[in-house]
Amino acid sequence: TIISWDLASAEKGGFPHFLLKEIYEQPEAVKHTLLGRIDLDRKAIDFSKEGLKKEFFENIEKIFIVACGTSYHAGLVAKYLIEKNLKIPVEVDLASEFRYRHPLINSNTLFIAVSQSGETADTLASLRLAKQLDAKILSICNVLGSTIARESDVVLYTQAGPEISVASTKAFITQILIFILLTFYLKAMFYKENEKAEKINILIKLPQLLEKFVKEVHLKVKKIAKKWYNVENCLYLGRNILYPIALEGALKLKEISYIHAEGYAAGEMKHGPIALIDEKFPTVVLAAKETGITYEKTLANAEEVRSRRGPIIAFVSENSEEFKKLSEDLVEIPSTFYEFLPIFYVIPLQLFAYEMAVLRGCDVDKPRNLAKSVTVE
Ligand code: G6P
Repeated sequence: TIISWDLASAEKGGFPHFLLKEIYEQPEAVKHTLLGRIDLDRKAIDFSKEGLKKEFFENIEKIFIVACGTSYHAGLVAKYLIEKNLKIPVEVDLASEFRYRHPLINSNTLFIAVSQSGETADTLASLRLAKQLDAKILSICNVLGSTIARESDVVLYTQAGPEISVASTKAFITQILIFILLTFYLKAMFYKENEKAEKINILIKLPQLLEKFVKEVHLKVKKIAKKWYNVENCLYLGRNILYPIALEGALKLKEISYIHAEGYAAGEMKHGPIALIDEKFPTVVLAAKETGITYEKTLANAEEVRSRRGPIIAFVSENSEEFKKLSEDLVEIPSTFYEFLPIFYVIPLQLFAYEMAVLRGCDVDKPRNLAKSVTVE
């Protein structure tokens, strides 16, 4: 007998698609991102191996984070983390806008490029512009030795391993993780405040927690996708640190399932998208009790959707009784620290988009008209 060897399926390690494989690889990717970057004795973050020095961050008055696509959403998450913890103003820009808008930059500016591939044309052009204007350049890249990495003063690699599927998943989570580590690191440097041992312990346990979480939440999301895959539109709402995750959830859905999806800051819904709501237009609502008052505010926005007969698919904290009454479908997300919320909330949205796309018969790994790396303008 002839044994047929299908290289493509072998590379997928038993998964039907690279996308699903990469979603499931996220716990492992997180482990690699953490590797060598946690000093267990001091319960502190250690970037000494990447040559980071205190002087690099001295006199920084402003941070620009510039990126495209999913990487841009990681930058938006970072704004919440950095401004809250470090009290440094952060501007997040789409690279295609930044490069043509005469940004105010000087030698006290830190420019952070975020790019999985390290080759995206607009992000690279933005980096070169910032460099010309004397900014300090840090990049967060996945691909070793990529152009953006090479042209930066300092690179923090995500170490997520190769990402094949066009839609980005494990690169996104690890970009966020790098920002979490960087925030903790700078807090210790500037405020002499090490993060609570508890938080560092959660960091170390993150791969293990995520491993369990991905499997459990996948089963739940799969059932929900079966009910909704025929919709034509979908709105995603979130606030605070979950607002960028609403944007990312919507991007994932439109990229791979071709369903029209929009992410919105929940509080902004009344200025437009609410006009679209009817019984055929589902809204995905993200709400975490860890975000304090914005949890209550998001609940109020969900009530506004419900009162216009819009179905709600909720991804919310455990024991959110009010949401249980409002929602058609609900997935509970385990409680964690504020900083880790984006990671826990984006995983079910990646899986939701994946399941919807599969049910619609889409080519999930290579969506039409999209490229993994956009090296032209
Ligand atoms: C393309 C990809 C996206 C990615 C974006 C930015 O549009 O399809 O998945 O987020 O480029 O890519 P980068 O490599 O710079 O992160």
